Amino acid sequence: MKDALEKIQRLVDEKISEVRQQKEIEDIRIKFLGKKGELTAILKQMGKLSAEERPVIGQLANKVRSHIEEAIASKAEEIKNAEKERKLKEETIDVTLPGKAPKVGKAHPLNFVLREVEEVFLGMGFDIVEGPEVETDHYCFEALNMPPHHPARDTQDTFYINDNVLLRTQTSSVQIRIMENRKPPIRIISPGRVYRSDAVDATHSPLFHQIEGLVIDKGVTMADLKGTLELLMQRLYGKDCKIRLRPHHFPYTEPSAEVDIMCFNCGGKGCPMCKNEGYIELLGSGMVHPKVLEGCGIDPEVYSGFAFGMGLERITMGRYNINDMRLLYENDVRFLEQF
Ligand code: DAH
Repeated sequence: MKDALEKIQRLVDEKISEVRQQKEIEDIRIKFLGKKGELTAILKQMGKLSAEERPVIGQLANKVRSHIEEAIASKAEEIKNAEKERKLKEETIDVTLPGKAPKVGKAHPLNFVLREVEEVFLGMGFDIVEGPEVETDHYCFEALNMPPHHPARDTQDTFYINDNVLLRTQTSSVQIRIMENRKPPIRIISPGRVYRSDAVDATHSPLFHQIEGLVIDKGVTMADLKGTLELLMQRLYGKDCKIRLRPHHFPYTEPSAEVDIMCFNCGGKGCPMCKNEGYIELLGSGMVHPKVLEGCGIDPEVYSGFAFGMGLERITMGRYNINDMRLLYENDVRFLEQF
C-alpha cells in the first residue's frame, strides 16, 4: 500500500508537469482526489490494515493528499499568471506609434473670404445683420427708388412668388429694413444670398452672394466711403492694392460710383485678365439718395450716409485667381482642397 501511495504521488507529479491548461488540472484532481479517484480507492482499503500499519499508512496517505493538493494549487496559480501575462502582452498599446490623423475639413473659399470681410468691418465697429431672401417688391425695389417701370429693374429680373413677393436680387433691401428700424448712427454690413434669372456661365449664376454695407451719421462724406473700401481691399488684396472710383448710376445713391481694383495680374498696365483695362470692377457704391433716407424717416438735411454692395463670388475669385464661378458651387473636393 505504501508503494501504491508513493506511485500515485510520482504519477501526479509527472502529470502535473505536463499540464498546459486549466482544464487538465481539474481532470487530474478528479482522477486522483475525486470520489472515485485513485487515492480515494486506496484509502477505502485502510480497513484491511493491521492496527500497527494503519497510523503509518494513514499519515503517509495524508501527506500524499496534501502534496497533490499543493501541486494542483500551485500549477493552477502558474497557469493563471501565464494567462494574465499573455493577455497583457497581447493588449499592449504602443503609445509611441504615430496616430491616425483625422480628416479635418475647412471653410469653403466663399465662407473664408466672407469671414475675412466680416472681421475687417467688425474691427471698424460695424454690426453684421441679416435680411430675408424672400422679399417684397417694396424692400427690393420700390423703397430703393426703383418704382415699377424703372429701367434699372430690367437688369435684375428674378423669380417671383407672386406680383409682390420675390426672391431678392440684391442685399440692398436690407438697407431699407435697417433704416426703418434703427436710428442713426447706423453702421452695418449684411451678407447673404441673392437671386437673378440668369443662365449659368463662368461669371453668372442664378444664385450668388452679396455683401451690403451701410453707414448713416452726421457729416458722412464720399471720403469716408473711399477710405472704408480702400482699407477693406488692402486687407484682402495686400497693402499695395489701389482702388479707383468711377462715376456710375444707381437709383438709390447720389452720387454713385463703381469701385475698381488695380489689376493684381498686371499692376495696372493692362492684360487679358483685366481685359486691357488695368482695373477690375469690384462693386457698386454711393452716397445714399435723399429720397431713400426720407422714405425711411431719416432727415437728409441732418444725416448723410454711404452704401455699397459687392459680389462675394467676384472678390473671392479675384483673391484666389479663380476664372470660373461654377467651380465655387460644384463642391469638387480636389478643387476646394487647394485653398
Ligand atoms: N445693389 C447693387 C447691385 O446689386 C450694388 C450696389 C450699388 C449696392 C450701390 C449699394 C450701392 O448699396 O450703394 O448691383
